[in-house]
Amino acid sequence: MRVLLAGGAGYIGAHTAVALLDAGHEAVLLDDLSNTSAVAADRVAEITGKSVPLVVGDASDDAVVTAAFDEHGPFDAIVHLAAFKAVGESLQKPLQYYSNNLDTTYALLRVGIERGIRSFLFSSTGTVYSDPADLPFTEESATSIDLSNAYSKSKRMNEVVLEDVARVNPELDVTVLRYFNPVGAHPSGLIGEDPTGIPNNLMPYVQRVAIGELERIGIFGEDYDTPDGTGLRDYIHVVDLAAGHVAALEKAQPGFAVFNLGTGKPVSVRQLIASFERAVGRELPSQVLPRRGGDVAATYCDPSKAQRELGWTATLTIDDASRDAWNWQSKNPRGFATA
Ligand code: WQD
Repeated sequence: MRVLLAGGAGYIGAHTAVALLDAGHEAVLLDDLSNTSAVAADRVAEITGKSVPLVVGDASDDAVVTAAFDEHGPFDAIVHLAAFKAVGESLQKPLQYYSNNLDTTYALLRVGIERGIRSFLFSSTGTVYSDPADLPFTEESATSIDLSNAYSKSKRMNEVVLEDVARVNPELDVTVLRYFNPVGAHPSGLIGEDPTGIPNNLMPYVQRVAIGELERIGIFGEDYDTPDGTGLRDYIHVVDLAAGHVAALEKAQPGFAVFNLGTGKPVSVRQLIASFERAVGRELPSQVLPRRGGDVAATYCDPSKAQRELGWTATLTIDDASRDAWNWQSKNPRGFATA
């Protein structure tokens, strides 16, 4: 398959490009580089030994998407990973989140359908599930638009749009992948998570403490109703997540389908820190802070539908993720800027 990866130079995008190329497919990256570096495309080429064209541009612009098709098409599939994704930031900038995260989808669908793609794969999130009583979340668990932040709401809105578009394009495969918490890095240490500024998410924050850039880990609350009082999440190794994208594309059927991509094995904040300490070989400084607004005690999935229908299962552990994240961070202390 020849695949256009919108947001393809990002954290998930670069790992998905590697997985596609390693599986014998072709990948072209489209990215505005607003939250990554063009170096990521070079690293994907270095890992796979294959050419990886990078089109720098805004995926919400029909002319940019059309030019990508004119220059590098035709494409069998579009994988749409081009979105703003910081929950906290989305509370401050709702308009930017709704416009970017929806306009990219509209442009990619308009041009992609017009140019005859067979598959459209969308990066969604497990944060669309709305009732903690449903844990572990299955694809049938309750979702809502009434979520705590514009990021999650924009993802749920995208899902609604995609279901309607799939209904009137019966020849198109539309697949929604609901990610849980992506962590880790490619074992080569050449690509990994490289958030700009102070990381919002736990694992990249721990990474920055481990290399000495940040002083100590803040544990956002230890009074949750969980075994050790800290938040539980379903951390999925990004290499497993990338493999899930390849399986979803290769097994795609006409129509609309939703899959959870997670491990189904919840891990607490303290357990993740302990895992990272094992990878680094020393204790890391931490302090307990008040809860973070908007956080839930626990979220994790039942991944059995992807196993049943895609033949995909996450196989890597939190210790694998810590080992690989530490390998990436210690080799690239300033992320891609180190290059
Ligand atoms: C994980 C746990 C925090 C930072 C995010 C976004 C969304 C989604 C998944 C894709 C929680 C705790 C965190 C810190 C901490 N991605 N924590 N100290 O909020 O579950 O979800 O990633 O859809 O982008 O919703 O991830 O890593 O921020 O938090 O104690 O410095 O770690 O309270 O329990 P989250 P996170």
